[in-house]
Amino acid sequence: MPRIRVEPIGIEIDAPENETVMDAVCAEGYYWPVGCARNGECTNCSMEVLSGVGRLTAMGRWERANLVRQRGLRSIEDPRLRLACQARVRGDVIVYKRGVEPE
Ligand code: FES
Repeated sequence: MPRIRVEPIGIEIDAPENETVMDAVCAEGYYWPVGCARNGECTNCSMEVLSGVGRLTAMGRWERANLVRQRGLRSIEDPRLRLACQARVRGDVIVYKRGVEPE
């Protein structure tokens, strides 16, 4: 089972394979900053992947298009910037997201 570590809060959770990072973390009772219906539109859930970017599902056209629309073309130059509501775990990852906190 993939393990997700979230910094700077310093939590670690086990996630069902192919679960989104956000859904896996929220299922353990944490709030993850959002601004839409978790459908990849707002980009408020964006996170920096510190380790294991290749153990997330590849970025799809919808995620890419909304990152460009909301944050500019340069936002997709760094593959470590991902949307937590879109990226699904296939293995262990460490991510950085401010605002993640117990609900
Ligand atoms: S929650 Fe809006 S893009 Fe992920």
